Amino acid sequence: MPKTIVTGGAGFIGCNAARRFIEKGHKVVVLDNLSRKGTKDNVEWLRQFGEFEFEKLDIRDEKAMVDLFGRHKDVDQVIHLAGQVAVTTSVLDPREDLEINILGTFNLLEGLRAHSLKPVFLYASTNKVYGGMEEIPVEEKNGRYQYAHLPLGIDESVNLDFHSPYGCSKGAAEQYVRDYWRIYGIPTVGLRQSCIYGLRQLGMEDQGWVAWFIICCVLEREVTIFGDGKQVRDALYVQDLLDGYEAAIANIKKTAGQIYNIGGGPDNMLSLLELIAYLEEFSGRKMNARFDDWRPGDQPVFVSDIRKAREHFGWQPQVSLKQGIERLYNWVVDNREMFQAIHGATAPK
Ligand SMILES: NC(=O)c1ccc[n+]([C@@H]2O[C@H](COP(=O)([O-])OP(=O)(O)OC[C@H]3O[C@@H](n4cnc5c(N)ncnc54)[C@H](O)[C@@H]3O)[C@@H](O)[C@H]2O)c1
Repeated sequence: MPKTIVTGGAGFIGCNAARRFIEKGHKVVVLDNLSRKGTKDNVEWLRQFGEFEFEKLDIRDEKAMVDLFGRHKDVDQVIHLAGQVAVTTSVLDPREDLEINILGTFNLLEGLRAHSLKPVFLYASTNKVYGGMEEIPVEEKNGRYQYAHLPLGIDESVNLDFHSPYGCSKGAAEQYVRDYWRIYGIPTVGLRQSCIYGLRQLGMEDQGWVAWFIICCVLEREVTIFGDGKQVRDALYVQDLLDGYEAAIANIKKTAGQIYNIGGGPDNMLSLLELIAYLEEFSGRKMNARFDDWRPGDQPVFVSDIRKAREHFGWQPQVSLKQGIERLYNWVVDNREMFQAIHGATAPK
């Protein structure tokens, strides 16, 4: 059976990915430093699906990463998800952001190289590498922003313009990942993910906005909208993302060294205000929203053009926004107490 190492495997996407590969019978290694709140619960949750190894390690530790691959020389695929994940946190502490996202990723790549290993290495990049895309015309229509001339969204040929320390660190790491295919022959794939949402997402104000809005709705907490709320995002349900991971790996001859936009695409986009309106209708409760300044590098619209992924590995989203949002809402309701425990002290009342 293949061996899969999931870094950040105790996080939102990571624990869903680990579950998927455990259920497929892989030998799964979950690596995480458990720095994010709720991650211990995710590790416990995972145990019901089968055996896995847990490595409590920090990817900033260069020697630990070399030793890791020394213990797991039989690794077939690395799903690299560990990271500092929030723009606002990166602005407050850009050095820590750099050390986790750039050096951490570099340590993993070098750990592989130290043992001459060449597993598939899949890296979760971000649409933030495109920056604010000020040169791309945007218009306001029906109370939301949209691209004036790009109905299918942003493709991978748009200029890179790293904006915010998070954008810089994720983008720099992405380019290292890509280059390790060209220079060292490690079959790497970079996936520029848009907003991902789904079960076990412990959304926070500064990351995971769909989950955060749903949590605020369920816990009846105030939600802050940065900007005017007309900004539009595409959103992708986590199971669709994992289908994309598997398809990219299955087609590694084609995908090695490539970069793909992976998001909900034009069929799965919505504005912040539209999500609030939908949640109010669905829950029958009025939400309490306040407005604040735009955040650095925030795009008025981001919708991924996902045609390259479809052409190269036959992938496209299957879960509609409505289905996905309702599943996540119901899960948050079922886990209200856990969310109260996690957000009780930090969330605005
Ligand atoms: N969720 C999204 O919408 C989204 C969008 C684009 C890109 N991404 C990327 O996908 C990846 C996973 O995101 P997520 O939403 O699951 O976030 P998450 O915060 O739930 O998971 C990240 C995990 O990394 C771990 N971690 C952090 N620093 C670490 C370190 N130094 N060493 C070891 N582990 C460490 C955390 O404890 C956490 O479990 C991240 O790299 C993120 O940048 C996510």
